[in-house]
Amino acid sequence: MSSDLEPLAAFRLDGRVAIVTGASSGLGTRFAQILAAVGAKVVLAARRADRLAALAKEIPDAVPVTCDVANPTDNERLIATTLEHFGQIDILINNAGATDGGIAAEEETLEEFNRVVAVNQTASFHLATLVAPKMLARGSGSIVNIASIHGLCAGAPNNQAAYVASKSAVIGMTRELAVQWASRGVRVNAIAPAYFETELTTEMFANERSAAWIQRNTPMRRPGRAEELDGALLYLASDASSYVTGTTLVVDGGWTAR
Ligand SMILES: NC(=O)c1ccc[n+]([C@@H]2O[C@H](COP(=O)([O-])OP(=O)(O)OC[C@H]3O[C@@H](n4cnc5c(N)ncnc54)[C@H](OP(=O)(O)O)[C@@H]3O)[C@@H](O)[C@H]2O)c1
Repeated sequence: MSSDLEPLAAFRLDGRVAIVTGASSGLGTRFAQILAAVGAKVVLAARRADRLAALAKEIPDAVPVTCDVANPTDNERLIATTLEHFGQIDILINNAGATDGGIAAEEETLEEFNRVVAVNQTASFHLATLVAPKMLARGSGSIVNIASIHGLCAGAPNNQAAYVASKSAVIGMTRELAVQWASRGVRVNAIAPAYFETELTTEMFANERSAAWIQRNTPMRRPGRAEELDGALLYLASDASSYVTGTTLVVDGGWTAR
């Protein structure tokens, strides 16, 4: 069979090198496992070294790098370590995330606002700009930013000004970087998930009222399952989306379609 009649081949990532931030729990752990499952060599970044070491034992060739993405020096070390190990970077998954959930804007300190922006927004920009020169020089690369439906709509009734502001910024930055680099082979896209049960959302799922609110507001009447992001991740990370850049793929059970 000729290769153009094997569409699933474009989703393979054999020999590609992928960095996943926030790989120590939740969606990031799953993303690293899935990228590796289709052939990628993965670099696992987050602050909790014990979690990364445990995950690295499960994934052949995985390299754990302890890294606070809000610290520019850590980010530089993450990129340098990746290049030392593998000599190239093909995929960056900007997944590390933090939230300010629950604070009314008029009571939110600038320090708290900036803490969330530093992880969700500034770090995503910094890491993208650190990998871009290598990717642009080779004329290929895929950057996937993990945004949120709350980059597209407010968090109400949950107060989360910094989260909504930073995830909206990630979606705007995705467009801007995509257009700047489009003609040079580097693609930048985002995924906007709705609600998935992870450490970030533990309190929401533990609370009967907020769990019911999630169900009520999701047309599919249930939260997402981590594996329901696999398709979006692989599509955007791989050559399957070779003509797609600057887009935000919503995975939300219909939330934003209401
Ligand atoms: N769960 C949802 O419903 C949902 C919905 C939409 C979007 N998202 C987004 O999905 C991404 C993953 O979140 P999750 O739901 O999987 O939550 P999670 O389980 O809490 O994972 C967050 C990850 O980010 C890492 N992280 C946080 N601050 C960091 C820092 N300063 N430096 C390095 N790593 C840092 C954490 O690792 P360490 O603590 O070890 O550093 C952890 O691995 C986030 O961007 C989140 O906004 C989640």
